[in-house]
Amino acid sequence: MMKEIIGLQQQTDIIQARKIGREMAKTLGFGSADQTRLATAISEITRNAIQYGRGGHCAISGYSDRNERKISISVEDRGPGIPDIDKAMEDGYTTGHGLGAGLPGARRLMHEFHIESGSGGTKVVMGMKQKNF
Ligand SMILES: Nc1ncnc2c1ncn2[C@@H]1O[C@H](COP(=O)(O)OP(=O)(O)OP(=O)(O)O)[C@@H](O)[C@H]1O
Ligand SMILES: [Mg+2]
Repeated sequence: MMKEIIGLQQQTDIIQARKIGREMAKTLGFGSADQTRLATAISEITRNAIQYGRGGHCAISGYSDRNERKISISVEDRGPGIPDIDKAMEDGYTTGHGLGAGLPGARRLMHEFHIESGSGGTKVVMGMKQKNF
């Protein structure tokens, strides 16, 4: 079991989180296309936490055993939350100046994607896994 926690306050933390995610995925045996998918999803969700959630942290954990390899990402912030999650998950929905592609894009890139949000903040948990042979 590997675990890393990255504080999210500024732009450079996004780069750090995606780098740690990519390296862990590689160590666990994920291929380069999966490493890129994971790094992209981490970028989008950590950027949202900084842009809209006043920062927070990103926990990246992973393991590989005889059956499977799995990497899980949890991004939490203590911002104002997302009033309408269904809307926020739609392609093209943004309250900022983005493309509104971050959340729906990250969901498509990962195997697992859960989001919960309330007035105390937002938490996104996502995962990627693969069978080991
Ligand atoms: N952590 C968060 N806290 C509060 N609101 C959020 C959070 N993450 C996303 N949102 C809201 O959901 C909307 C959609 O997010 P999404 O990442 O899909 O698009 P975007 O950030 O607006 O643009 P893009 O990611 O394409 O640059 C945001 O505009 C914002 O209103
Ligand atoms: Mg975004």
